[in-house]
Amino acid sequence: MIVKKHIEFILDGKIHRIEFGNLKPSTTVLNYLRSFDNHKGVKEGCAEGDCGACTVVLASLDEKGKLSFEAIDSCLVFLPMIHGKQLITVENLSIKEKGERQLHSVQKSMVIHNGSQCGYCTPGIVMSTFALYKNHTKPSLDVVLDSLTGNLCRCTGYNSIIKAAQQACQHNGKDQYSYTEEQICKTLSTIKEDKVDIELEGEGQKYFLPASIQSALQLMQENPEALIVSGATDIALRQTKKREHFPVIIGLSAIDEVREYSENDEQLIFGAGMSMEKVKLLSKHKLPALYQMLSVFGSLQIRNLATLGGNIGSASPIGDSLPLLFAYNASVNLLDSEGKKRTIPIEDFITGYRQTLLKKNELIVSVCIPKPSQDITISSYKVSRRKDLDISTVSAAFSLKMNTDGIVEDIMLVYGGMAAKTQKAIKAGEYLKGKIWSLKNIEHAMSIIEDEFTPLTDARSDASTRRIAASNLLLKFFSETHSA
Ligand SMILES: Cc1cc2nc3c(=O)[nH]c(=O)nc-3n(C[C@H](O)[C@H](O)[C@H](O)COP(=O)(O)OP(=O)(O)OC[C@H]3O[C@@H](n4cnc5c(N)ncnc54)[C@H](O)[C@@H]3O)c2cc1C
Ligand code: FES
Ligand code: FES
Repeated sequence: MIVKKHIEFILDGKIHRIEFGNLKPSTTVLNYLRSFDNHKGVKEGCAEGDCGACTVVLASLDEKGKLSFEAIDSCLVFLPMIHGKQLITVENLSIKEKGERQLHSVQKSMVIHNGSQCGYCTPGIVMSTFALYKNHTKPSLDVVLDSLTGNLCRCTGYNSIIKAAQQACQHNGKDQYSYTEEQICKTLSTIKEDKVDIELEGEGQKYFLPASIQSALQLMQENPEALIVSGATDIALRQTKKREHFPVIIGLSAIDEVREYSENDEQLIFGAGMSMEKVKLLSKHKLPALYQMLSVFGSLQIRNLATLGGNIGSASPIGDSLPLLFAYNASVNLLDSEGKKRTIPIEDFITGYRQTLLKKNELIVSVCIPKPSQDITISSYKVSRRKDLDISTVSAAFSLKMNTDGIVEDIMLVYGGMAAKTQKAIKAGEYLKGKIWSLKNIEHAMSIIEDEFTPLTDARSDASTRRIAASNLLLKFFSETHSA
């Protein structure tokens, strides 16, 4: 197996090579950038993906060989994850013309609309707006708001920032990056063309970056203690907040196979390493309930990093994709280091609080979702303390099949945040089966739900509020599906 011992990416228009040694591979892009005098624009606010002050943009080659620009929270990204990409920071936006520094359109717009006061959040907001500028011309207000959801500002107020972003994006799509795109694409393909595994070492840590699933599985066999990292939006917090040290990491970010999507007559197959934003865009017309749920999943910066496999791998009781995956009757495809495949229904795969059936030598390779038939209604709901960028207090996904007489033929009621793991309301579902889809029966099922769960009281909510929210979500589903 050929192995490289360094990573390469483009920064400030040049190839940047890191061999680690006296630098820990899991150093975050934020901390790395701030070690340079000319990259102090990027800021740390929270170090946990909530404030967006650390937002930078990654440009990478898409399937068509074009550059795709994504805003990400650099506080959550380990350096090896940007191998083969272009890292763009706020310092890279203005250009020198005739000896004068010219601000980028998005920066000019922030100045014109008074979008900055203390300026701490401004580089992050500018970078989110820059990604918006590169991806959309004349975006709708919803698109603008979505692209700024992950950026907090404590002093300016959001109206001027939103106006600045809207105004900046009334453009013809051209800036200095359009003129260098061809050259950047060539350089990025050269960096990635040999597709070899990368082994990095520094400050008591080994970080493997396998180029294929096969290599990843072999490395897992050789390093059974290794931590598997995909988008790192869960794992990075263990380093930034709990100060954990990971002696051995196997990162999946360089494996193209885990980001593939396919579909056949029966099912949609999402690679486990697909970002939640890609899953969201693909599901818009095919799985609208999933699209709706992913619209309130983290922020765009988080969804650009977070993966579907990571959400399942974390098996959190408030993992937002899980209730829906239950309702869709999804399965996970696993592969082990001996080449054995297993396909397990998600319902059986999640076994307890952050527990799954995944063996030490197995990876989640993909997730299969059967195409929902036309006569089944599937909806999802998220109750959180604020609408955007918040984790669920209670979530739910319901699937309903009714016959023409309004009788429930089949129903699945699944909840997040009500037990140690994603859990079905089995008794309430059994009660409703064969009954008329009526308010009277729903009210009875609601009382069953309240007895069926013993949720926690924690900082987000007390147990009784969770019970009420869970039963009311069924009422909401009824009101949306019942024809008077
Ligand atoms: C600010 C913020 C907001 C968030 N908002 C939400 C939200 O709204 N809803 C929500 O549900 N979650 C949210 N999260 C949590 C997190 O983003 C998700 O759980 C995400 O899907 C994790 O994916 P990842 O690729 O980043 O996982 P990682 O952190 O890379 O990994 C998570 C776990 O999964 C395992 N794993 C990853 N990929 C595989 C694989 N292919 N095979 C086997 N094991 C694997 C890892 O070993 C690890 O145990 C948020 C996180 C942050 C920081
Ligand atoms: S520092 Fe707050 S999101 Fe990164
Ligand atoms: S300008 Fe001060 S936090 Fe936004």
